[in-house]
Amino acid sequence: MSGAASCLALDGVSKRFGSLSVLEEVSFVIGQGERCGIIGPNGAGKSTLFNIIAGELPLTRGAVRFFGGNITRMPAHARARAGLARTFQTTTLFPKLSVIENIVLALQAHSAERFHLLAPRSRYHSRDREARALLDRVGLASRSNELVDALGYGEKRQVEILLAIAQKPKLLLLDEPTAGLAPGDASLVTEMLKRERGDITIVLIEHDMGVVFDVVERLIVLHHGRVVADGTVEAIRGDDNVQEIYLGGKL
Ligand SMILES: Nc1ncnc2c1ncn2[C@@H]1O[C@H](COP(=O)(O)OP(=O)(O)OP(=O)(O)O)[C@@H](O)[C@H]1O
Ligand SMILES: [Mg+2]
Repeated sequence: MSGAASCLALDGVSKRFGSLSVLEEVSFVIGQGERCGIIGPNGAGKSTLFNIIAGELPLTRGAVRFFGGNITRMPAHARARAGLARTFQTTTLFPKLSVIENIVLALQAHSAERFHLLAPRSRYHSRDREARALLDRVGLASRSNELVDALGYGEKRQVEILLAIAQKPKLLLLDEPTAGLAPGDASLVTEMLKRERGDITIVLIEHDMGVVFDVVERLIVLHHGRVVADGTVEAIRGDDNVQEIYLGGKL
């Protein structure tokens, strides 16, 4: 981790659903600015892990730390305020509003003051400018005034990720951002994530190894709720145990 501040640390996290053990003693530290992939077969516990990190599910045992602070019992909305953002599989956009309106609303929701009829127009204009700059960054500026409904799947996914980025998160959790996208659309999302430099730490759950190898530098492999490998993309690629888990095909 080369001395970077610890962004996210899991310490012996376990999760049971009744008698079903889904996560067992999961521990790792992700440094600020790191891009880390979480891979593993279906049912390995990846999404459950995200739900625990985001505060949507209580854990059974263990601790979660965010920049050193213990957030194990912190509610999800407080974690979001502290800089933890995530995207979901299902769309969270307003389909009947334009792309730019969706972004402006997200910027507004993030800021402390809510929309107010008597707020100075200059404030709206500055949000509008900020939203346009964000869209420009991902090459979607020309789509600003389109209804979200009119966008393609890949563009919708880009806007969803942009909404998460608009919150200026410290940590961004992405659960299979390219799932269901055609290869051309998946590369729109990949390019967008690769361009996103700076302080955002990214943790990505992904089945598409092309996307994984393109975007992240480190991989954590989950299998039956346990971390079975954790290392550089190159090291994981050459790991016999991981090859076996994927039945020799996918890596
Ligand atoms: N709320 C729940 N109640 C009971 N069991 C659950 C619940 N949520 C998840 N599980 C079980 O936990 C296990 C892990 O599920 P999870 O969704 O975390 O896997 P995953 O690694 O994200 O899989 P996939 O790659 O298919 O998305 C599965 O066996 C699942 O059926
Ligand atoms: Mg999942």
